[in-house]
Amino acid sequence: MAKGQVLRKVATTPTAIAGKNPPLRSDALVLFGATGDLAYKKIFPALQAMVLAGELDMPVIGMARAGWDLDQLRERIRASLKHAGHLDQAAFSKISAQLRYVDGDYNEPETFQRLKQALDGVHRPLHYLAIPPSLFDTVVKGLGSSGCATNARVVVEKPFGRDLASARTLNKALHSVFKEDAVFRIDHYLGKEAVRNLMYFRFANSFLEPIWNRDHVHNIQITLAEHFGVKGRGSFYEGVGAIRDVVQNHMLEVVALLAMDAPVSDDSQAIHAEKLRLFRAMQPLQPANLVRGQFKGYRDEAGVANDSNVETFAALKLEINTWRWAGVPFYLRAGKRLPITATEVLVTLKSPPLAIFKQDQPEGMQLAHRNHFRFRLNPEVVIAAGARIKRSGEAMQGDDVELIASHQQAGDAPPYERLLGGALDGDETLFTHAEAVEEAWRVVDPVLDLPAPVKIYAAGSWGPETSADIVSAAGGWHDPKPERSTPC
Ligand code: BG6
Repeated sequence: MAKGQVLRKVATTPTAIAGKNPPLRSDALVLFGATGDLAYKKIFPALQAMVLAGELDMPVIGMARAGWDLDQLRERIRASLKHAGHLDQAAFSKISAQLRYVDGDYNEPETFQRLKQALDGVHRPLHYLAIPPSLFDTVVKGLGSSGCATNARVVVEKPFGRDLASARTLNKALHSVFKEDAVFRIDHYLGKEAVRNLMYFRFANSFLEPIWNRDHVHNIQITLAEHFGVKGRGSFYEGVGAIRDVVQNHMLEVVALLAMDAPVSDDSQAIHAEKLRLFRAMQPLQPANLVRGQFKGYRDEAGVANDSNVETFAALKLEINTWRWAGVPFYLRAGKRLPITATEVLVTLKSPPLAIFKQDQPEGMQLAHRNHFRFRLNPEVVIAAGARIKRSGEAMQGDDVELIASHQQAGDAPPYERLLGGALDGDETLFTHAEAVEEAWRVVDPVLDLPAPVKIYAAGSWGPETSADIVSAAGGWHDPKPERSTPC
């Protein structure tokens, strides 16, 4: 009855008992931070894609405190679509016709009164907070006291806090006005096709389950490598670092999907219940199981302190104390200015119990004999199974081959379109929940802002050499290679 117990536990949290929002589609999109970077780079192109797919037929209300008017916002959208490389005139005209704009200080109740007027005739708005987390509380309270939160949903962006304490404060602020099932926390990795495929592949097949455990899996590695640096976001990155930027969220979400037990259905509550159980079993990270690095040249970036101790690279070992995974190391590695841009999972299976084929002694020996599953999550979508196959000829000798189960080139529909659509539909599956986010912060909290100096590594390398120590029991890191036609 463990599953039943967990489901009951989740259902009785104060944030969930109030019942589900009616599963009706939102009928207006309110975009806070409409003049900002996120709207420009990600949200406006997603809106155009949704219009083109016939999925956005509702008022779009831009909010900002920029002293702008509606025409300026329209021009900003046009510029954003051009910048994204695709301006569809008809779609742009449609967005323009649906667009409204409210300018004002979020601290002023009048701003929210003007929003209320702009929402005349709207029954279920979706408020998208594309604003810094420091403003969440003010905006949420403004929405609540003006009546704009009635039947509404709210989308909040990453970063969701900077540690466990601040994440709790943010959750409290959101829950003071919105029920948990009306809150949609974005982790764009959950909107990626390859990441969704992880869960699908695991639970739509029967052959994995018997071996997906400590009896058969030797270790699991996840590398999130980026060839580029901080892309001019030095001052943002200084307050974040690799652990907060991608480990606490994107990478732990991937771990959860890889390691969770099967949900009882594809209902979002069932999925979240199993993920939460897994998050709870993740052990807090230990400084001794972590190597932090910083690429040479980072301190010369604009907005970066010349004695910065912020990590642009992290390699670590994570332990998950469940019946299924106890003793199986999860090795995670993320970094900027690495040799390639690729996110990849390698699940290495244990070796066969005996080496029967005596002639078959390739270099690398034991590791080469192990089978694996490889999931390329970015930029391509690849699922591959590694096996030994006999080489043709007299000798009982073989080679490592990969059976490619799926291979799609990069260029998947950008996750923002999918995420926005999900939030408008009230589908929580692709979003993170309050308790899971807090659990993820609990895991990384002990290794945030460590005083030990970061290790400097050369741009274009695989990080500090000592990161190999983390993974020595598994025979070294698996470095993602270019797939055919993978750009660096
Ligand atoms: C973002 C981080 O959340 O994820 C970036 O802030 C990182 O630093 C990005 O580059 C990685 O996402 P993707 O989709 O490009 O792999």
